[in-house]
Amino acid sequence: MKDRSISRELICEMIKFGNSVSIAASIRLGLILVLFPHTCVAADKGEASDSALRGYRFLTETSVLPSDFHQSTFDSLWSVWPEPLRSEAEKASPDQRRQMAFERYGLTKRPNDPSDKPLQYVVDTSGDWTMNCFSCHGGSVYGKPTPGAPNNRFALQTLTEEIGKAKLRQGLLPGRMELGAMFVPLGTTNGTTNAVVFGMGLMNGRDEKLNLVVRTPKFFTHHDMDAPPWWHFYKRPNIYIDGFAQKGHRGLMQFTLVPENGPDFYRRHESDFRDVFDYLSSLRAPKFDGDIDQTLAEQGRVVFESNCAECHGTYGTSDGGVASYPNRRVPIQDIGTDPVRLRALTVEGRRKYGRSWFAHAGEEGQQETVVDPEGYVAPPLDGVWASPPYFHNGSVPTLWDVLHPDQRPTLWRPVSQKMDAEKIGLTVEQVDSIPSDVLDIADRRSYFDTRKFGKSNAGHHFPDALTETEKTSVLEYLKTL
Ligand code: HEC
Ligand code: HEC
Repeated sequence: MKDRSISRELICEMIKFGNSVSIAASIRLGLILVLFPHTCVAADKGEASDSALRGYRFLTETSVLPSDFHQSTFDSLWSVWPEPLRSEAEKASPDQRRQMAFERYGLTKRPNDPSDKPLQYVVDTSGDWTMNCFSCHGGSVYGKPTPGAPNNRFALQTLTEEIGKAKLRQGLLPGRMELGAMFVPLGTTNGTTNAVVFGMGLMNGRDEKLNLVVRTPKFFTHHDMDAPPWWHFYKRPNIYIDGFAQKGHRGLMQFTLVPENGPDFYRRHESDFRDVFDYLSSLRAPKFDGDIDQTLAEQGRVVFESNCAECHGTYGTSDGGVASYPNRRVPIQDIGTDPVRLRALTVEGRRKYGRSWFAHAGEEGQQETVVDPEGYVAPPLDGVWASPPYFHNGSVPTLWDVLHPDQRPTLWRPVSQKMDAEKIGLTVEQVDSIPSDVLDIADRRSYFDTRKFGKSNAGHHFPDALTETEKTSVLEYLKTL
């Protein structure tokens, strides 16, 4: 009996922390769950249903896009790195070299998985690597690999460029990503990607039933975004920063719209994406494991509830206070954060999405699509300590900076994977300009320049109403969410 309860706790821990399991382990867990169907059903902790486990397995083990590159190309990447990194890699063992490559491109291992496969790519039995959702939605929380956490270190542009060079050295032709990158910038700062444009560009080649059609030339606004954490999914009725799309399993398939996937693909994989939907819904934010001053946090809760909760909701209290999420959209002129993302999606684009197969949840029929949202929806703040940088474009490195609108850094870069324990967020350095001796393009892309298009750190002046003492208490309270 003892063994059984340990197993159950283990599974619950995995689900709670957004972690999951290798195939072998998940088959084992699948069995345990069949034996103990009521494993961790506590509403606040997420539910380890069979379908959620299947969803995770599908995302990590099934490629839904054509393969990006082969293991042999990945293993030879070091040969195109700049010096002195290349010489260091040459002297290193294959294992260390792989570690260096993971580090350079923002890849991580999979938690609780003895294989050395990356979380962010499906690696099949013939050694082909294919990007999966975790490349943007599976990062590390201060160094701890966490599926569902935004990957705030993903270096897609650098990886793609260097894969192209490595393929050339191997006498291979460039792939879909390398060719695409010649026309569409993939992301100018590590940890952010031009993700919305991928979806819009791909949808441009489809009719509403997802049949392939001739593309009409269109002008797209290129801009980078920071992926949101998946542990809010269960709370949000509508998704994306402007909340334009009602959530549903079909909508989750947009990212797979490459021409190779015909309309059949969508019908064939629909049930897999129901599992993915269940997996996303099962995730919960990790809990802060550092010190919290409970008295100060309690003062912060009171300040938060009268200044922030109308938009961000409430998070319950130890004496039974209820949690709520208002799903409130704030007009762009009131929120004042970077407006590029709001305008980059057109009314026509959203309308087309609304008429498409994606926005018809199946038996439930037509979903609600807001074709002209006038602002951004305040996200839930559960686990907010674990998902820096902040705002939809990732322009603000710490919660302290969110609370001090006039003191946010203009040009910054992360200098460590450790949490800034005072300001809560990324440990960064501020500079006036990128030093001229930083020559490696991968390093140059670690700087976030808030003066660039779509990268403004302005707005959200609501904390200005607070005194410094109140801000300190709210910062403490935010750690408890
Ligand atoms: C290249 C990076 C990237 C990849 C790959 C990616 N996403 Fe995203 N995802 C984003 C970004 C950026 C956003 C925010 C978009 C917005 O708000 O306009 C987002 C938003 C979402 C949201 C909405 C979350 C919320 O709270 O609003 C969901 C759900 C989601 N993605 C699921 C997926 C799934 C499932 C896959 C794989 C099939 C996937 N994503 C692949 C970058 C990515
Ligand atoms: C009028 C509504 C409103 C009020 C009041 C408000 N916020 Fe926000 N908040 C938003 C919106 C909208 C965003 C998203 C902005 C964006 O990403 O561009 C946001 C974003 C944030 C974020 C960043 C979340 C992330 O994951 O990137 C934090 C932290 C935050 N708010 C904290 C607070 C605190 C603390 C208060 C109270 C002092 C507060 N907010 C008051 C609407 C509000």
